[in-house]
Amino acid sequence: MGFLEEIEKRRTFGIVSHPDAGKTTLTEKLLLFGGAIQIAGAVKSNKIKRHATSDFMEIEKQRGISVATSVMAFEYGGKKINILDTPGHKDFAEDTYRTLTAVDSVIVVIDVAKGVEEQTLNLVKVCKMRKTPMIVFINKMDREGKDGFDLLDEIETKLGLKVCPLSWPVGMGQRFKGVYNIFEKKLNLFSPHGKQSEEDLLSIDDLSESILDERVGDDAAKELRDDIHMITEVYPELDTEAYLNGGQSPVFFGSAVNNFGVKEMLDCFVQIAPSPLPRETEERIVQPNEKKFSGFIFKIHANIDPKHRDRIAFLRVCSGIFERNTNYRHARLERKMKFSNPTSFMAARKEVIDAAYPGDIVGLYDSSNFKIGDSMTEGEELNFKGMPAFSPEQFRYINNADPMKSKQLAKGIHQLMEEGVAQLFITELSGRKIIGTVGALQFEVIQYRLKHEYGASCSYEPLRLHKACWVHCDDRAELKKFEERRRKDLAKDKDGKLVYLAESAWGLQTVQENHPAVEFRNTSE
Ligand code: G4P
Repeated sequence: MGFLEEIEKRRTFGIVSHPDAGKTTLTEKLLLFGGAIQIAGAVKSNKIKRHATSDFMEIEKQRGISVATSVMAFEYGGKKINILDTPGHKDFAEDTYRTLTAVDSVIVVIDVAKGVEEQTLNLVKVCKMRKTPMIVFINKMDREGKDGFDLLDEIETKLGLKVCPLSWPVGMGQRFKGVYNIFEKKLNLFSPHGKQSEEDLLSIDDLSESILDERVGDDAAKELRDDIHMITEVYPELDTEAYLNGGQSPVFFGSAVNNFGVKEMLDCFVQIAPSPLPRETEERIVQPNEKKFSGFIFKIHANIDPKHRDRIAFLRVCSGIFERNTNYRHARLERKMKFSNPTSFMAARKEVIDAAYPGDIVGLYDSSNFKIGDSMTEGEELNFKGMPAFSPEQFRYINNADPMKSKQLAKGIHQLMEEGVAQLFITELSGRKIIGTVGALQFEVIQYRLKHEYGASCSYEPLRLHKACWVHCDDRAELKKFEERRRKDLAKDKDGKLVYLAESAWGLQTVQENHPAVEFRNTSE
């Protein structure tokens, strides 16, 4: 197969959802279709179980398991599909945002009873910012939930997505009869646990045919006819261009645990989802079909076994062919590196690969050479965009609790920050170290890992901050004035960028009013 065909064949995407909406279950069903796994229950995901939210040992164990399922690849309908797993847990949201830079499209899973939830909102916001094409899967139709039209309204108003329903449920919960595939004009009758037979799939070109009443009953048939009539009146037809620009989102209904309505979505996905897209760098746009290899690191996973300190860095191939044992340029370190055992991920199996194409994710064994956002090329200086740090929500001073181990502590903190576990800020006036995280959980994770992986002890001191904002100002004189006035609230991030630590929303507003020439950004980019 030629280079261009290899690229065209690839579909790299992520599934995002609020925890418990059914992301893991859906992932598993997709893998079953692709033959990547044989039995249900084989996928342990990045999911952090509810009961484990206060048990960070358990989280570490699950993080370990999740290396294998960070990327899952399978073939379906002539396409090579790479699913990138994203933690749904809010405390690991930043991990998810970064992983979303490595996908070309996403599937958003929504629980029919809960509708749009907090994490759905946050994650969709990030996807919209990047115009990532999104397909929506409304899950758990075997349970009572919200009315289909109300849900579409909710998706439009809360998530700001323009929807285009491509399948429609016949009833729900106890009365759930199946889904009508608007796209292919087929009715798929529901039976639990994926036990549909050929007979359950009816082609219905004309919904007025009496076979519909015979199979689902008069009431359900009437309701479906009315609903479909309404849909054709109100909602636009599928416009693939609009979908690819992030301007329209096809919606499917189903029940992942029953493997129902999943195939309809997958069949549509392989038809319309984008093959690897170009990537922006600070220097220029990189096209996937360029001959020369380029790629970036979007995730680093530490080995949880302290005896093996190596880490796995996840690289997304953006252009050209990545080859084993070939020298590439590590742009930030300005040095050449080659990899003798790069791995690919086929479900729970890791394999050493010789070559990888745009859209593929390669695992590179790393001994602290990489940090998130690093790029690898055949020599060109390229810095991929879209990997900003987001303002943390929780802050604490970090102190050394064992003076004999200050070197170890410094090294540990440095490496954990490179992995993207949290963010480090150093205050301008006192030089104190502040750790900023999205959730409280990371503080425990950091403390635990410093102890077990680096032999260092730390303690925390509370710090009430509202936000960390990256400061930007083209007017040097204004910037200097601002720096002089607010020095006690200033810090530097790990890259030496200037950050304003706002104590409150009100305080931030006042500072903004007093220094109109200064921009206070929520992200580092
Ligand atoms: P997540 O990764 O998005 O967090 O969700 P996950 O797939 O783990 O699903 C959360 C729960 O919802 C699981 O139940 C799962 O079995 C259930 N679920 C998923 N899809 C459906 C569906 O279509 N219908 C119904 N009724 N339930 C569904 P659990 O009890 O939390 O876990 P488990 O013991 O079943 O693993």
